[in-house]
Amino acid sequence: MRASIYCDECGTVHEINEKIVMCPCGKGLAEVRFDELPKVSWDTFKGRHWGVWRYRELIPVPTDAGIVSLGEGGTPLIKLRGPTRHTFLKFEGANPTGSFKDRGMTVATTVARYLGARAVVCASTGNTSASMSAYAARAGLKPIIILPEGKVAKGKLAQAVLHGATIINVKGNFDQALEAAVKVSAEGLAYLMNSINPWRIEGQKTVGFEIVEEMGVPDWIVLPVGNAGNISALWKGLKELYTAGLIEQLPRLAGIQASGAAPLAKAFKHGVEEPEFVDKPETVATAIRIGRPVSWKRAMRAVRESGGVFEEVSDEEILNGQRELARNEGIGVEPASAAAYAGLRKLVDEGIIGKDERVAVIATGHALKDPEVAASHPTPSFSVRPADVVTLVMGLISD
Ligand code: F0G
Repeated sequence: MRASIYCDECGTVHEINEKIVMCPCGKGLAEVRFDELPKVSWDTFKGRHWGVWRYRELIPVPTDAGIVSLGEGGTPLIKLRGPTRHTFLKFEGANPTGSFKDRGMTVATTVARYLGARAVVCASTGNTSASMSAYAARAGLKPIIILPEGKVAKGKLAQAVLHGATIINVKGNFDQALEAAVKVSAEGLAYLMNSINPWRIEGQKTVGFEIVEEMGVPDWIVLPVGNAGNISALWKGLKELYTAGLIEQLPRLAGIQASGAAPLAKAFKHGVEEPEFVDKPETVATAIRIGRPVSWKRAMRAVRESGGVFEEVSDEEILNGQRELARNEGIGVEPASAAAYAGLRKLVDEGIIGKDERVAVIATGHALKDPEVAASHPTPSFSVRPADVVTLVMGLISD
């Protein structure tokens, strides 16, 4: 076997065709690890379609598993006007269900079906549930989603409804919903699809592959952090490329949290290893409204190993960032993604990221995910009789 599933706490090793989401020790997170990295070069991937499965040698799903795909990954890398001279935005909102979750879901759903799962379950602030229900539909699995009631953006909820998910709203926050999902999975009732699932990480790491293949290794990669699966996945993938000799240096990572849900940014600022979790997280960026990031240890390690930082941004900074990206660059992202852009701007203002540095900022989700926040920005708007339109526009143009 080329790869195995390891527990990062007790070290137990499982075969990749075992139905392991969490190690039975109950303490650590499971991780897919290569026993030996496959021999690949950039030429191995050349000529293939862009997307997650371009890098199939580095995604060690069982060889006889039929792949469940909607064409995820291969998202645009767009040069921005600022805030550094070389800032590129990786627009993950261009994925099939409008967020980066599809990268992990194509791999985890492939494995779920291979393992004979009939139902899949996740807790979600919205995007995971939207993505999981689409991939479950494609694979013929039953999707069950557990949501923090009243805190999921309309676009994401609409997707879950459309794809026929069974929706369980809980009176509590995401962290409590996740505990419930873990219990459902531990009872053997459904296969868990949150980022605790090591196969989700295997798909999500490909965002880093695409960035470095397209622009070379940037000085920084900036991304939003909620449950901390994505930053862990990004770092795992980059280290694999480094070990395989495909890149010669590693970027620094900047993980951005919303101030009302920023246990990692606060711990980083105070120089402490153990974060103080937030019992009542609150932010306009509901995607990252998470007080107890399950992958916090990995995220801390990733940021420290990379020589990077955590930073936090206020809701006001997030909304300003969302508006700026939309109006200066034509790119509509959801608030959690705007947090990364706002964080980048802040780090440049603080002099932590230099104006000449090469930066990739990951915009994790599309603006339409949260139409209510998108529509809340001020813009000139009128309601008039049809006969009055020309006069109105004449007045506006001459102003
Ligand atoms: N950006 C968006 C748009 C997200 O939906 C999420 C997480 C993140 C960033 C943070 O990623 O959790 O890996 O650190 N959304 C999850 C969900 C929690 O349920 O959709 P993370």
